[in-house]
Amino acid sequence: MKRMMTILAASLAMTSFTGAAFAAEQGEAGKVISKQEQQKMVNIAHRGASGHAPENTMEAFHKGFEMKSDYIEIDVQMTKDGELVVIHDTTVDRTTDGTGKVGDLTLEEIRQLDAGSWFSENFTGERVPTFEEVVDEFRGKVGILIELKAPELYPGVEEKIANALIERNMATPNNNKIIIQSFNHESMKKSKELLPNLSHGVLTGGGWADVTEEQLAQFASYADYFNPTMSIVTDELVTDVHEAGMDIFPYTSRSQEQALRLFNLNVDGIITDYPEHVYHHPVKNS
Ligand code: G3P
Ligand code: CA
Repeated sequence: MKRMMTILAASLAMTSFTGAAFAAEQGEAGKVISKQEQQKMVNIAHRGASGHAPENTMEAFHKGFEMKSDYIEIDVQMTKDGELVVIHDTTVDRTTDGTGKVGDLTLEEIRQLDAGSWFSENFTGERVPTFEEVVDEFRGKVGILIELKAPELYPGVEEKIANALIERNMATPNNNKIIIQSFNHESMKKSKELLPNLSHGVLTGGGWADVTEEQLAQFASYADYFNPTMSIVTDELVTDVHEAGMDIFPYTSRSQEQALRLFNLNVDGIITDYPEHVYHHPVKNS
């Protein structure tokens, strides 16, 4: 049911963008991708449309929304004073003009940092957003794929996220516009107990290429999504994930060729820095 609703939401979101322009086109492997198949593909803007704007900033999230992504993906961590912030690395060093661990800085200290200049001077002055700020800006506009980043560093982060969603009446049954995911699978079990009505996902890296049916069944006992690094995705893996009752959103597509490969493998959604790759297909071999 959740899968059907996700597909329906994705189809509705994409209708205005794709219009009638996309007739059947040909993928890299020569397989014809029908308009219907294109419209089923869930488009997830990774850290926002991070190919076009500095990752995990309001600009990147607005860009993902403008580009008609179905979801924006955000990385959530916690400050020294217990506030939820949206940033990928566990230090601020790479994506801001500051230094130090996220968990060693207060919200006030983090909010003073410039999170845009490292990407381009056009984005000077961008700030590290709070979780609440992102949710309040984008709820009702676009889906939010919430990644708990390194939750083992932040005791209580699952409860804080759950409370923020419950306070906003966003943890209701069938709210398919919120999905929670993490590489920390114990954290996802805990979050599922706190938010039983919301969909959860397990993120997996390259070490999971030989995931067994038993392991997938275990994941499916609390998760609705198995989201692997795209390098391990095969026809067989996609079939096994579907047979376990989950959907599969691989990460992170950064080229048109990578998106096409994933299309041809019949995944359910693509996590990408470039949302335009998930809509547009160059016609090859024609
Ligand atoms: O959404 C999946 C993807 O974001 C996981 O990898 O390192 O970009 O957070 P990472
Ligand atoms: Ca992420």
